[in-house]
Amino acid sequence: MRNLSVDGARLWDSLMDMARIGATPKGGSRRLALSDLDRQGRDLFVGWCREAGCAVRIDRMGNIFARRAGRDDTRSPVVVGSHLDTQPTGGKFDGVYGVLAGLEVIRTLNDHGYETEAPIEVSVWTNEEGARFAPSMIGSGVFAGVYPIDKGLSCADVDGRTIGEELQRTGYAGDVQCGGWPIRAYFEAHIEQGPILEAEGKTIGVVTGAQGLRWYDVTVGGMESHAGTTPMDRRRDAMAGAARMVTAVDRIGRETPDAVTTVGEVRVAPNSRNVIPGEVFFTIDARHPDGATLEVMDAAVRDACRSIAREAHLELRISDVTDTAPVVFDRDCVAAVRRAAEQAGYGHRDIVSGAGHDACFINAVAPTAMIFVPCKDGISHNETESATPEDLAAGCNVLLRVVLDAAES
Ligand code: GLV
Ligand code: MN
Ligand code: MN
Repeated sequence: MRNLSVDGARLWDSLMDMARIGATPKGGSRRLALSDLDRQGRDLFVGWCREAGCAVRIDRMGNIFARRAGRDDTRSPVVVGSHLDTQPTGGKFDGVYGVLAGLEVIRTLNDHGYETEAPIEVSVWTNEEGARFAPSMIGSGVFAGVYPIDKGLSCADVDGRTIGEELQRTGYAGDVQCGGWPIRAYFEAHIEQGPILEAEGKTIGVVTGAQGLRWYDVTVGGMESHAGTTPMDRRRDAMAGAARMVTAVDRIGRETPDAVTTVGEVRVAPNSRNVIPGEVFFTIDARHPDGATLEVMDAAVRDACRSIAREAHLELRISDVTDTAPVVFDRDCVAAVRRAAEQAGYGHRDIVSGAGHDACFINAVAPTAMIFVPCKDGISHNETESATPEDLAAGCNVLLRVVLDAAES
């Protein structure tokens, strides 16, 4: 029975069907967490799961669990999953692949009438991307006890709408307790979102862990005044100061080996071309595989922003949005992924994830590992994100094997 393999064409078709919800002009998807389009994506997934005979539960954070019963249904489930929400200009595969690969595992087992000892559940975690509601990975974070439920439900978007309100509005405010129940093992399949596997011609990334991540919100205060009449030496221009801070953040990323730093979101007030900006809000995303180095980067970012603010007579507020330590996945789960890739005859290598994933939080409460497949030119968080049906099927076959191992042992 270990020669089972998934139906790659069916997996591909499901990915393309999901991508039509919120399809963007350049071939990507836009399904911001708990928007109407995200609800449509969730509804499509839940419908497919019910057709596959699964029982569907929703927890208080809107995380979805589709369960295929085990022969011994009292056993803790093996959970596989990822997310269906996307970036504003997201691709077709980030997150969606891990969810639909889980569904394809279940459909394959159904095709063969294969019963597993332990139940299998496919999970959809709420607001993984953090694009609409910060911080990212909030559904899995609450599940794993990293954040209290009240914090999760009260996260607000730029218009002040909260996750709690949007869960109610979209019909995904479930009543199952978020977290606190045992998971036998958690596996997440995902596109690599970087260039390494493709460059080395490998099909499977055996993910050993993920780098650490810090997010900050920065508000720079200056003084609004007339762009035509205020001499340069009398200005307190929040935008000019913020621009210097952005450059400093970029320099810290470039000067620290293996670091990456990004300012991805900026809001200027009053945002009028002939008013000197009085306030600028921007975000910082800083990452490094080593926690101690991330600490050094933290101090460097704060020092740089403070000294620029002092020199330019600007006010400065830096708040911490998230601090996720580097993660090491479970040794046995990682070994199972490596073994499955080996047995299936796929070229593979160990790899550390540059991106954050729900698996990083679930790792704290369950034995966890991830499976990466290549994506074209390493491009992700981009509408043109692309992966081949063959590689996606290969990753799903590895997922099938590790799930069977975990559900039978
Ligand atoms: C998740 O998409 C991340 O920001 O790594
Ligand atoms: Mn993702
Ligand atoms: Mn993403």
